[in-house]
Amino acid sequence: MAANKREKFGGRLAVILAMAGSAIGLGNIWRFPYMVGEHGGAAFVVVYVIATLLISLPVFLSEVMVGRRSHTNARDAFARLSRHHPFWKGAGYLTIVIPTLIACYYSVIGGWSVEYFLKSCSAAFIHTTPEGASALFGSFVSDTWTPVLMHLLFLGLTVLVVAGGVKSGIEKFSKVTLPVLFVLILVILVYSVSLPGAGEGVRYLLHPDWSELTPRTFAYAMGQSFYSLSLGMGAIITYGSYVSKKENILVTSAGTAVSDLLFAIMAGFAIMPAVFAAGIEPGAGPGLIFQSIPYVFAKMGVDLPVLSSLVAVIFFLSIIVAAMTSCISLVEVGVSFLMERAGMTRVRACLLLYLICGGLGTLCSLSFGPLADVRVAGMSIFDLFDWVCSNILLLLMGLLVVIFVGWILPRRVVHDEFTNRGSIAFNDRIFPVFWFLIKWVAPIAVLIIFFTNFIL
Ligand code: PFF
Repeated sequence: MAANKREKFGGRLAVILAMAGSAIGLGNIWRFPYMVGEHGGAAFVVVYVIATLLISLPVFLSEVMVGRRSHTNARDAFARLSRHHPFWKGAGYLTIVIPTLIACYYSVIGGWSVEYFLKSCSAAFIHTTPEGASALFGSFVSDTWTPVLMHLLFLGLTVLVVAGGVKSGIEKFSKVTLPVLFVLILVILVYSVSLPGAGEGVRYLLHPDWSELTPRTFAYAMGQSFYSLSLGMGAIITYGSYVSKKENILVTSAGTAVSDLLFAIMAGFAIMPAVFAAGIEPGAGPGLIFQSIPYVFAKMGVDLPVLSSLVAVIFFLSIIVAAMTSCISLVEVGVSFLMERAGMTRVRACLLLYLICGGLGTLCSLSFGPLADVRVAGMSIFDLFDWVCSNILLLLMGLLVVIFVGWILPRRVVHDEFTNRGSIAFNDRIFPVFWFLIKWVAPIAVLIIFFTNFIL
């Protein structure tokens, strides 16, 4: 996401693929299922879908507009469009801090994926029982050094890609692995729902228990939706700046949001039945996918041992690539900032970020083991990082974006961007709906949800 090179995406599919590449990652496959398990099952899913369509999609469109209109990176976009108003210049800095903080703990889970990839290469899951899969995960994360080393390895690889400028290579690679991941999740889904006892998991996702619906459900569903769509951290603003003036941003944004939603729901249906079949507690937290998926591979291995090992290896490799493309864009934000504003070379900037994210990420990693007893406001260090980013900072930044588009930018400018200067009849017709959502619904909803976090 180099801010100085303002290339344009070549066509609609390229735009959707690039945005989906940023959006689809660990957020869908790892985070969504455990959020569902921790916050009320189907009721959470319903709130999540509604929040994505009514709030996140308009916020997504707003970020694309801010990027395309300002034609610059996220930090400078607000400054440029507000004619250098000091408040909006300051707000732009949040778009540097948030991705850097997320990179710290995102790379911890990236490290877990590397470990599971290595395990799958040695066919470690082939005879796993449900208890065995849970024990395997437990002994891995509570160990002091292995998870830290894996985290530093994953982050190191990511930073190397960013430093070496071979980003486009890995992004091309991800265009292959993303569809592969999609197909493999489907395969796992079919296997997962056919496990004995899986029906309970399917019911858990399809039958909302409305008594589970609490203010907390709304807060976490909104946070998950922003996280999954890479909102509130400048990523989509930056991608928006590469979108051609001729593109219909309603189609590209809706395309991205719907594919991201589909990916998450599919991951939910691939994981949750296996969780129930294996007798794992759905609210088990960040380890949920790592505890349940090996059991699916073991069951698959009973009928088709070679295929099961192969699927496991390709599955974890695809997760690593999906995580890496997302993590690259997180790290790149800080790197380009350090290069442009602090005059650092790319290599030095990468090194500094490696030290910062490596150090803070190590604390997050250790919070599953030796530092498990360190609690801040009842949360582990990992959960604290995740909560501050997803529930506080992303919502805060998202709120600023909608206020900026709904209240600071002139309506004429927003209309121009939404309709390509009035040339797209359909967009012109539904503009009043978008305008109402962005001016009233989104800011009020995000504001209420934001404060809900503090009274839970
Ligand atoms: N949306 C990504 C996911 O769901 O895994 C996470 C992410 C990646 C957020 C890149 C922000 C970003 F810039």
